[in-house]
Amino acid sequence: MEEKIKELRAAIEQAGAAVTNEAELSAFWQQFLSKNGAVAGLTKSLRDVPKEERPAVGKTINEFKNWAEAQYQALSAQVERAALAARNAAETVDITLPAQKRPNGSLHPITLVKNEIVDVFSGMGFEIYEGPEIEDDDHNFTRLNVPKNHPARDMQDTFYVAEDIVLRTHTSPGQIRVMDSEKPPIKVLVPGRVFRSDSDATHSPMFHQMEGLVVDKGITLCDLQGMLDEFVQALFGEGVKTRLRPSYFPFTEPSVEVDVSCFECGGKGCPLCKHTGWIEVLGGGIVHHNVLANCGIDPKVYSGLAFGIGIERIAMLKYGINNIGLMFENDLRFLKQFED
Ligand code: PHE
Repeated sequence: MEEKIKELRAAIEQAGAAVTNEAELSAFWQQFLSKNGAVAGLTKSLRDVPKEERPAVGKTINEFKNWAEAQYQALSAQVERAALAARNAAETVDITLPAQKRPNGSLHPITLVKNEIVDVFSGMGFEIYEGPEIEDDDHNFTRLNVPKNHPARDMQDTFYVAEDIVLRTHTSPGQIRVMDSEKPPIKVLVPGRVFRSDSDATHSPMFHQMEGLVVDKGITLCDLQGMLDEFVQALFGEGVKTRLRPSYFPFTEPSVEVDVSCFECGGKGCPLCKHTGWIEVLGGGIVHHNVLANCGIDPKVYSGLAFGIGIERIAMLKYGINNIGLMFENDLRFLKQFED
């Protein structure tokens, strides 16, 4: 038995020295330590040992078994360490390598102008409200004092989604929604996408507007002009003036078209202002008393002003863009010109 153990010890040591990975470790265990392995074989052969010697031999075998198991544990730890070291080596990152360059994005001119407008008016205490792009006829027209069959409906070429459901043709329905949910004093901006069946160098079927609405006691056209003066000076430069011309919108009375003095030539006349010295920038007016009444606001107590700014129009003027389509092509050569 002594001899057998000695041989087996040598075999285990030799096999153990050759173990370098999981598979070899598992073969080692199979060969020596499994139920049918060589070490278990020793225990079985205890049967052939004379009875009086068995306790002593059994003890020797047990000690040997413990030793063999300790061998296995040590090998197992060694294989695990080697695997970890290999993984660490494979996953090493060279932190001195230059980083991959990611191109910077930049804000779209429409976003730039929208942010500028919001900046100016939030400085005057305006809050932002956003309404739905798909509107009902009621909000888009009727309650804005444009009843069915009113000729003013032809002013805007409307996309109908269903009977009485439209893609909003302007941000003015936002006025109705705000007045339905808030009591005066009201001071809101309503930015958003609007839709009209119209397309040429300066018109796109989808474009952006910024509605402004102020409702309080004693609001007049002077308030409108004062606010718009600040607005045009912030966007087009100090010294730019506004001019109000009589116009017509069903939901304002009086209604005005607002011009700015030409920021290109200072009013002397140039191609940008078509030699008039003035450039039309937006529409507005005093909220029609029917519109206030339609929203449960007493027109004898309150009055309001409203305006609608076409964001693309302002962007085209400000940046000298001559075709509205450029703003929707997302050509990087165009967009990169607006990087900081
Ligand atoms: N909603 C009008 C348009 O789209 C603009 C406007 C807004 C006019 C508010 C007056 C008051 O043409």
